[in-house]
Amino acid sequence: MYIKQEEIVKYISDKPFRVISEVADELGMEAYVIGGYVRDIFLYRPSKDIDIVAVGSGIQLAEAVARRLGKRTHLSVFKNFGTAQVKSGDLEIEFVGARKESYTCDSRKPVVEDGTLEDDQNRRDFTINALALCLNRSRYGELVDPFDGLSDMDNLTIRTPLNPDITFSNDPLRMMRAIRFATQLGFFIDPDTFDAIERNRERISIISKERIIDELNKIILSPKPSIGFELLDRSGLLELIFPELVALKGIETKEGIGHKDNFAHTLMVLDRLSRTSDNLWLRWSALLHDIAKPATKRFDKRLGWTFHNHNFIGEKMIPGIFRRMKLPMNEKMKYVQKMVTLHMRPIALADDEVTDSAIRRLLFDAGNDIDDLMKLCEADITS
Ligand code: CTP
Repeated sequence: MYIKQEEIVKYISDKPFRVISEVADELGMEAYVIGGYVRDIFLYRPSKDIDIVAVGSGIQLAEAVARRLGKRTHLSVFKNFGTAQVKSGDLEIEFVGARKESYTCDSRKPVVEDGTLEDDQNRRDFTINALALCLNRSRYGELVDPFDGLSDMDNLTIRTPLNPDITFSNDPLRMMRAIRFATQLGFFIDPDTFDAIERNRERISIISKERIIDELNKIILSPKPSIGFELLDRSGLLELIFPELVALKGIETKEGIGHKDNFAHTLMVLDRLSRTSDNLWLRWSALLHDIAKPATKRFDKRLGWTFHNHNFIGEKMIPGIFRRMKLPMNEKMKYVQKMVTLHMRPIALADDEVTDSAIRRLLFDAGNDIDDLMKLCEADITS
């Protein structure tokens, strides 16, 4: 990961950065760009969300910056959180004062105190997210990397800056974030960090469903979502957040006849579909297309393993899953239900003697979503 100092400076050369620099110097405050924006410079990923840490009052810095940026700048202050947001053009800049945090064991509510940059970096989730670039004029663009996040970036490693038991216990959502970043970026999770996810997995119960689903959706929207689901499964998190998927695992054999592992099959279908579609809800349909196979599995001496009506039962299971996971109970859910109910129809048409009326019925039932249904089917047949 070789990026020269002059190149780094290019990424922080827009007017808002220069203004933050001037204003911070005038206020006698240290100011740094930190977190995802800095990580993404090294990964050559464009980013519009900028996090600024001030060693002092983040709100005071934001107010002065917004005044200096002038027209078409929008400032929002969140006094309770000690943060402020400045919107300027298409950039969103969050300001916060450097903090030191400690958490009590049964709550996510931290006890927050003012701190140094180092305290602030210590409380971040991963070494690659703790990189900071100084904005003060005398050190403009200087990288502060106390945990050697750059080496982790080179080695494609997700690792917590502190003992992972502490980092995960402070905010258990970070266990999902580790897996999400590994999936999105094609990184590996450091073995000690991964072991800590396994050990701390039960703590996910204190995290809101909304935050969990945000991370799960980011995994589903990644280039190869199976990486994330396999890590979720291996760490034991999947059992806690999505037991229906874990129930798809395994192969039973009777009288020498086995069936396929429906977990592995589902992930293969999801990966295949992800090559042709970025539609989150179509990807959810792939994930759920065989969800009722465990519930409908029978062994028939003549036919072997059968999963009769698993599409219809799957359709019926979806509202329960969506409600529990706080997914939208609206037309998006209805679309997923439709895809799951219809997922075998095109295949059945290919197998049977095709009649015009069967095709017409399918076109009628699928309506405008026929192309999506065909994509799902293609991903399902060929795997
Ligand atoms: N952060 C953290 N723990 C969390 C969430 C965030 O330590 N549970 C810190 C990390 O330093 C992170 C920064 O806050 O880089 C910004 O968080 P966020 O905007 O959620 O994530 P990004 O890293 O910017 O990545 P993305 O936008 O892909 O979510």
